[in-house]
Amino acid sequence: MTTVSTLPWAAAPAAGNAIGLYAKWTPALDAKIEAALQRLREVSIAHGDGLVQSSSLGAEDMVITDLIARTQLPIAISTLDTGKLHPETLALLPRIEERYGRTVEVFKPRFDAVVEFVAREGEDAMYKSIELRKACCGIRKMEPLGRMLAGRSAWITGLRREQSGARSDVAFDEDDGNGRRKISPIADWTWAEVWAYVQKYDVPYNPLHDQFMPSIGCAPCTRAIAVGEDFRAGRWWWEESSKECGLHAKD
Ligand code: ADX
Ligand code: SF4
Repeated sequence: MTTVSTLPWAAAPAAGNAIGLYAKWTPALDAKIEAALQRLREVSIAHGDGLVQSSSLGAEDMVITDLIARTQLPIAISTLDTGKLHPETLALLPRIEERYGRTVEVFKPRFDAVVEFVAREGEDAMYKSIELRKACCGIRKMEPLGRMLAGRSAWITGLRREQSGARSDVAFDEDDGNGRRKISPIADWTWAEVWAYVQKYDVPYNPLHDQFMPSIGCAPCTRAIAVGEDFRAGRWWWEESSKECGLHAKD
């Protein structure tokens, strides 16, 4: 059974960073890296141009981008820029280009849909009701995701089983419910292993991870977490929901 992680802030050094806080190389990690690479190689051969990495630019996705780039796999990398991301998140785009020579394709929401929604419901609509929050996710994430995945037969995510109870059964390779394969090559990695990899391979990462934000989404819907809170407690923190936006599971 996979345990949902809570994070050891109590052990945090005063001026800690995410590597200092979390990284721990485990005896299993070499084999997990090789297995993740093997999954990426196989899915790249099976799907060719029909495959895309969907990256939130969070630590897990940066690890996967590093695996892809280091082994020169011909896999496209894309992100959904909702228009509400932190500047620190967007700053990773040129860093990926500099470091790996890979351009990340950016999918944005439809301008007219955003303008109409904000005019009707306000900039802070997400806090007013779950329905409005999901409507915002629909316009800013789901519709662009549809364009990202159009014509694709498979996509790669950074989902991990440890991230939440709702994700405890994430498969390495599953049907996404829309006829595509959804590949989560590091589904079995722990948070400590993600950061051990980041450290070893000097992977660029979002500095917000140093500020107690393990899971980073849009700025209005992400906060830092406190001692003992679980991994996704800072996402849509005001809701009692299962904290999913539709990219991976329906509430
Ligand atoms: S979310 O559904 O709550 O937003 P989360 O942030 O945990 O998801 O990320 C899980 C996976 O969803 C990421 O590893 C990535 O594959 C995909 N994902 C999430 N946000 C984005 C984004 N903005 N652009 C592209 N992919 C994303
Ligand atoms: Fe809108 Fe928040 Fe969803 Fe981003 S996470 S699309 S800001 S409701």
